Amino acid sequence: MYVEANKKNGLVQKPNVVVSVRDNKGRDNALVVAYACNCSYDPPMIMVGIVPSRFSYHMIKENGSFVVHLLDKSQTELYRVCGSLSGTDSDKLKEHHIKIKDALKVNAGIIEGCPVAIECKVVDSIKTGSHEMFVGEVMYVHAIKGSLNDKGMVDINKLNLL
Ligand SMILES: Cc1cc2nc3c(=O)[nH]c(=O)nc-3n(C[C@H](O)[C@H](O)[C@H](O)COP(=O)(O)O)c2cc1C
Repeated sequence: MYVEANKKNGLVQKPNVVVSVRDNKGRDNALVVAYACNCSYDPPMIMVGIVPSRFSYHMIKENGSFVVHLLDKSQTELYRVCGSLSGTDSDKLKEHHIKIKDALKVNAGIIEGCPVAIECKVVDSIKTGSHEMFVGEVMYVHAIKGSLNDKGMVDINKLNLL
């Protein structure tokens, strides 16, 4: 027996990712993104949806780079800070002592302590409505030691993801 649910439910998927971006002056920022998914296996591509009113929006536009982070269950405070504070009001990363290091292949920061960080270069974007979907080619994947299977793929069963 079914009832009609709201169309806005989407896929009801909950990847719990934090996306970091950097502007042309080198300022880092990060936000929680629910609109995140794989969109090509070969070449590997990931898509993230960012609302134009987010502070991060102009940064990804300027730089064409982003890093998608999967979080450990212990990183609830990082998730709260990135998903509720805006870079318009303050530098949330600095104020909350969130450590960033340079990505290897793209011009963005990697948030230290995340079990997986996926560096992406924007190759396309499409305005779908409320969000602009940025298609990023995966340039490098950082995974915490012990999290890979024998094919070098991240095995989420070996992680304790948020
Ligand atoms: C669970 C959750 C999911 C979110 N998903 C998105 C999203 O897909 N796209 C988006 O632009 N903002 C999303 N947000 C909102 C941003 O993360 C939030 O507004 C953030 O403070 C924006 O930061 P910024 O203004 O510094 O860019 C989400 C927030 C939460 C808590």
